[in-house]
Amino acid sequence: MNNFAKTEEEILILTDKYLVLDEKIPLKDEVFTELDLGCGKGGLTVGMAQLYPERRILAADIMLGRLRKVKKRLKRNSCDENVTLLRCEANMLLGLQLPDACIDRLHILCPDPWPKVRHSGRRLLSAQLMTSLHRVLKKDGIFHFSTDDPEYMAAVVRLVNESGFFVNAGEDAISDIAHIKTEFELDWLAIGRTVPHVAWKKI
Ligand SMILES: C[S@@+](CC[C@H](N)C(=O)[O-])C[C@H]1O[C@@H](n2cnc3c(N)ncnc32)[C@H](O)[C@@H]1O
Repeated sequence: MNNFAKTEEEILILTDKYLVLDEKIPLKDEVFTELDLGCGKGGLTVGMAQLYPERRILAADIMLGRLRKVKKRLKRNSCDENVTLLRCEANMLLGLQLPDACIDRLHILCPDPWPKVRHSGRRLLSAQLMTSLHRVLKKDGIFHFSTDDPEYMAAVVRLVNESGFFVNAGEDAISDIAHIKTEFELDWLAIGRTVPHVAWKKI
């Protein structure tokens, strides 16, 4: 059975919900691996690919159109060699498709905040996702989160604390990429909002 369908744009489309993403890419090796989850237009992915050509960078998004643009952007900047684009759903990816302990640093930047109370169930970050994050991170792995929405930030801090899976990692854990601004962060900054970043370490 062919679990992967590779499009003409070389985007890996994860089609089997029980697939462990280690058949195609050797994720259980020693290569430092970054995951930009919900990569959008790819500001962080491109920035990290340029900064760390020796690292493996996974860029995941549910929207194929966005991944196509990221692919073009990577090629234009001649930094696509170490990047794998994954078209997938985040909960499936972290819950089932990635092997245990394969990611060194996992970034979820400016996810949709769904600010209305009746929509808050649609938020990506949940107690279940905390368990999945903990599963896929390597020992001492870093979970990096940002949002312009203070309520979402407070909710995520609560989720992380209640999970008991992480300790605050401090700014040092993400200082190397602090200069990289994603498209959504730039949009929020342009209208005067602040976008705090937090990093936690897996315990
Ligand atoms: C608000 S954008 C942020 C994009 C980028 N991180 C940034 O800061 O510019 C959220 C991104 O997450 C993707 N996304 C939303 N829900 C998702 C899910 N369940 N699984 C995978 N990607 C998802 C969207 O398609 C979108 O590209």
